[in-house]
Amino acid sequence: MNPLPKPSAPSSLAGAAEGLWFNPHVAALPVYNAGLSVSAARAISGHQDIARLGSNENPHGCSPDVLRALSGAAFEPWRYSDPVCTDLRAALSRHTGVPAQEIVVGNGSEEMIAAVSRAFLTVDSTAVTVVRSFGLHEIEPLAIGAKVIKVPMTADMGFDVAGLERALAAKPQILLLSSPWNPVGSALSLEDLMRIAKACSPSTLFMLDEAYFEFAAPDVPNGIEVLRASGIAHVVLRSFSKAYGLAGLRVGFAACSNPEIARVVAAAKTPFNVNLAAQIGAIAALGDDAWMKDTVQRIRAERERTRAGLTAIGLKPAPSYANHLFFDCGTDAGDLGIKLLQDGIIVKAWRERGYETFLRASTGLPQENDRIVASLKKHLNR
Ligand SMILES: Cc1ncc(COP(=O)(O)O)c(C=O)c1O
Repeated sequence: MNPLPKPSAPSSLAGAAEGLWFNPHVAALPVYNAGLSVSAARAISGHQDIARLGSNENPHGCSPDVLRALSGAAFEPWRYSDPVCTDLRAALSRHTGVPAQEIVVGNGSEEMIAAVSRAFLTVDSTAVTVVRSFGLHEIEPLAIGAKVIKVPMTADMGFDVAGLERALAAKPQILLLSSPWNPVGSALSLEDLMRIAKACSPSTLFMLDEAYFEFAAPDVPNGIEVLRASGIAHVVLRSFSKAYGLAGLRVGFAACSNPEIARVVAAAKTPFNVNLAAQIGAIAALGDDAWMKDTVQRIRAERERTRAGLTAIGLKPAPSYANHLFFDCGTDAGDLGIKLLQDGIIVKAWRERGYETFLRASTGLPQENDRIVASLKKHLNR
């Protein structure tokens, strides 16, 4: 087995780069903790059959309608894509009830996190998020030079709503939260979401990241509906990468609370950010809700079956409304992740300070979930 590649260090000014001026905010950014690719995992582990449980993808693939649409006449890769995603925004407007002029489509919802940060933050402004957090909720504000205040989770792995209210009293420029929460899996209740919305001053934009919304509906509040009714300035993010199975196409969107917010968020993106395949694929995926709902059902059932398997070996995954489980493995998660990789399993060892014993495992196909439970049992001597 080859050694696991270490995450590269922040840019160094040594060697060929000497004498160059780097934007210090960008040069000092923490490295995004991305899941390993299958080819890297094969090369490192020597296994061909890799269980890819590190990136919260849909293990069932995507709707066959997407593949059909991509082989149709509308897919002309030699043409520039529509820079304002007219057809996709119209489809999203029908799907969400949000007016098309308040929707901005991104190259993945991650691009919208960057665009919102660029649109609302400058050097020395403040963003509030939580810890443990989705890496980009910290990285994108830091890239602008903003300060990031992180509110820790509660002991039972929930949102500290009172702590968030206290942080919001200082009137930060933006609040970034995911619900369902990556990495934890828990979600805001209607009451908590309304409390947080109420605590946002008129000068704070609430960016609610609902990348995992479809796995949780209808058991959790629909952030688009609740925040629109609240009247506060907000952006809700949704993704096609998770329940719709289009992670490789890169498409997500921002539903903004008014056209002016959408205009400025759109100004902060690159002009032809969403490629043609992504636009065509997302429209086809939206048209086959039945496929998405069926796989969501299967993933939810598998997630709970996997939870039972992990609980049986003494692990305690946090409650999850998403397509992943997060648990303390009681030992260095990075080392354990390498052992799992030797068995051909990719997981995400959490790297935030203080949480280095936590693993996040995506819900895969039944045989993949059986493999991770068996491998953890072996390596943790349970
Ligand atoms: C909470 C959260 N937001 C956003 C993203 C980015 O998703 P996308 O593939 O749409 O860029 C992810 C991906 O894992 C995520 O977990």
